[in-house]
Parts: sequence; C-alpha cells; structure tokens
Amino acid sequence: MAWKTIDRITPVVDKDAAPLLSEAVRAKIRSFFERYESKRAVLLPALHIVQDALGSVPLQAMVEVAELLEIHPSDVMDTASFYTQFWTHNKGAKLIMACRSLSCEVMGGNAVLEELKRRLGIDEHGTTPDGKYSLVTEECLAGCDHAPCLLINEKLHKRVKPEDIAKILADAENDQIDVERSDLFDAPAGAVAGSAGAPSGAKEVPQEGGDATDGSGTPG
Ligand code: FES
Repeated sequence: MAWKTIDRITPVVDKDAAPLLSEAVRAKIRSFFERYESKRAVLLPALHIVQDALGSVPLQAMVEVAELLEIHPSDVMDTASFYTQFWTHNKGAKLIMACRSLSCEVMGGNAVLEELKRRLGIDEHGTTPDGKYSLVTEECLAGCDHAPCLLINEKLHKRVKPEDIAKILADAENDQIDVERSDLFDAPAGAVAGSAGAPSGAKEVPQEGGDATDGSGTPG
C-alpha cells in the first residue's frame, strides 16, 4: 500500500484585515465565561454564536475566537473541523440533510437525493447561489420507519418521493417545527452590548430574549 500525499497548504489569514467578529458577537461569547471553569470550555458555544452571526466559521473568525478564549487557533480549527455542524464556507439559510443510511437507501433515498441536486443545481455540500439552501447527506436521521427521510433545518420530512421535492422546496415553511426554540445559546439577560460594527451580511445577534435565528431552534 502506498500513501498518497495531498497538498494541504492552509490559507494564510491576513493579519491586517478588519475584525470579522462584531463587538456584539464578542460580548455574547464573553457572556458565557461565567458559566464555565475555563475560557477554553466556551469554545463550542462560541462556534455556534459565530456561525449564527456570520453563517459560517471562516479562518479569520477562528483566529479571533482563539484570541478571545486565549487558546491556539489550531485548537479552534480542530474542533470546528471535527463537527459537521460547523461550516467553513458559506452555508445556506436552510440546510437540507438527505439520509444516506440503509433503510432510506432501500426505500429510494438515492432518487430523492438526485432530484434535490437537480432542482437545486448543486452537489453535496454545495450552497445555492441565492444562499437559500445547502445540501448534505447524513447518516440515519432517526426516522427509519418513515423512510426515505429529509431534514430541513430541524423539520423532518417523511416518506419523501422524488416527485414531492418541487412541492417541498416551494413551501416557505418547509423548515418550521411546532416546538419552541431553545435559548441554550442565548446570552444571559443584559450581557450583550449593542450590535454596532457588525460586519455586513451578518445576522443581528439576539438581545435579551430576542430571536435572530431563522426560527429553527438551533443556532447555525
Ligand atoms: S435510515 Fe434514514 S432515517 Fe434511518
């Protein structure tokens, strides 16, 4: 067996670039410090907060998070790249997860995935040019008895057929669930400063009890 060498030169972050994280995002991350014994332990909430604000966790944001948490940027990258939850490139407002596990495959999941790719004009891990949808495949979505399944943000679509895809995509509420959103990643009341200086394209960070997510219930 021969090892294949892959050129993995990491892009360099421009040290002179303007900060990517707004003061509101930084304040929200800092507000979690009191909940944990160390700043390092705030890494996962910080990544959620950054992705919720920017739509992804680019390299520069990883460096800025590392500075805030007083850890090495490679520690941030290790964690961000371990979880498929975090995106280092643009993620659509709605994430479609097509199940690729056995029950769904047997029940026609591949045809559903192909129809999704055809209708959206993207491949796996792609994002539509309008930023509306991203598409990935995932292992079992815990709906095997309703195979084949799709998850759009947190809404599970059951027994999906290729001919259902157009209707599902046309439904503006195809990601809406009848469950209250979690406030797990909301900052404690009064902990977040104003959002002045937020980078363009960033979502507003929720203030006291507010909701700047897409209503899916989970940041990112
Ligand atoms: S195999 Fe698809 S939901 Fe379980």
